[in-house]
Amino acid sequence: MENVLVIGATGNIGTSAVTAALRSKRQVLAVVRNQKSGEKLVKNVGTSEGITFVEADVVSDTGIKGVVEQVRAGKLPAFQHVFTCVGADYIPVALKDITPAQLRDNMARAFDSNFYAYRETISYLLEQGKPATYTICTGAMGDLAIFPLPAMTQGPLYSMATAASRENAETNVRFNEIYLAMRVEVDEEAKEHGVTTASEFAAVYEGILSRPEIRSSRVNVVDNGDIKDLKYETKVLDPQAFLRGINSQN
Ligand SMILES: NC(=O)c1ccc[n+]([C@@H]2O[C@H](COP(=O)([O-])OP(=O)(O)OC[C@H]3O[C@@H](n4cnc5c(N)ncnc54)[C@H](OP(=O)(O)O)[C@@H]3O)[C@@H](O)[C@H]2O)c1
Repeated sequence: MENVLVIGATGNIGTSAVTAALRSKRQVLAVVRNQKSGEKLVKNVGTSEGITFVEADVVSDTGIKGVVEQVRAGKLPAFQHVFTCVGADYIPVALKDITPAQLRDNMARAFDSNFYAYRETISYLLEQGKPATYTICTGAMGDLAIFPLPAMTQGPLYSMATAASRENAETNVRFNEIYLAMRVEVDEEAKEHGVTTASEFAAVYEGILSRPEIRSSRVNVVDNGDIKDLKYETKVLDPQAFLRGINSQN
């Protein structure tokens, strides 16, 4: 049975990815920061069946590296898919009020961790030589910047996803970015707040896992209609055509 490594597994989006993996008859290797976070995931998903938990510090550059070393040593199950969605503060602070410490902490949690996740797992997926996927979740906040702090962590993730899409365009790894432009929360909280549930949103990742034609793409999720009917576009642009497009607008 295939395994999905989920990094950021205990959050709103991670819970959704775990649900998608289990619904698609795969098992999950969930990276959690501690037992309490693991218990939160089990409560929100509704089961621990099919989930192997591993504790690691995802913000450190050695956290996921250690997980992959344990997989290589046969101490943890092999994985064929990675989903990453570590996030930080979702709060409205004006640009001028963001402290240097707040900026560093949020970039470390919401960007560095997702970069380390990619850096430490991609070679492993490539080495397998078999069909594999890597999926990252970003958000429209990066373009809207209504909350500047979480917005600024998204910009570098977009660029990272473009680079990964380009670098894996012809490898065994289907890299994709989910660009989410609506609010998703774990089921209980979503129902309370009238937003989309993690269980509903799980259909997006199920779709990506099951459709080999979706690769090196951004999957845009703007409303509930986009959850079942996936809208995607390539992230690998031809540089010359891109520059001609810009020049023709000027
Ligand atoms: N939810 C949405 O509607 C939405 C929309 C658009 C984009 N996104 C993007 O999706 C990503 C995840 O969002 P989310 O709503 O799932 O966030 P979330 O519920 O806050 O979850 C964040 C995840 O990161 C982990 N994490 C954060 N800081 C950590 C630390 N210092 N050490 C270890 N783990 C840490 C959390 O672990 P713990 O559970 O242990 O705290 C949790 O697993 C973000 O990049 C966000 O911008 C989300």
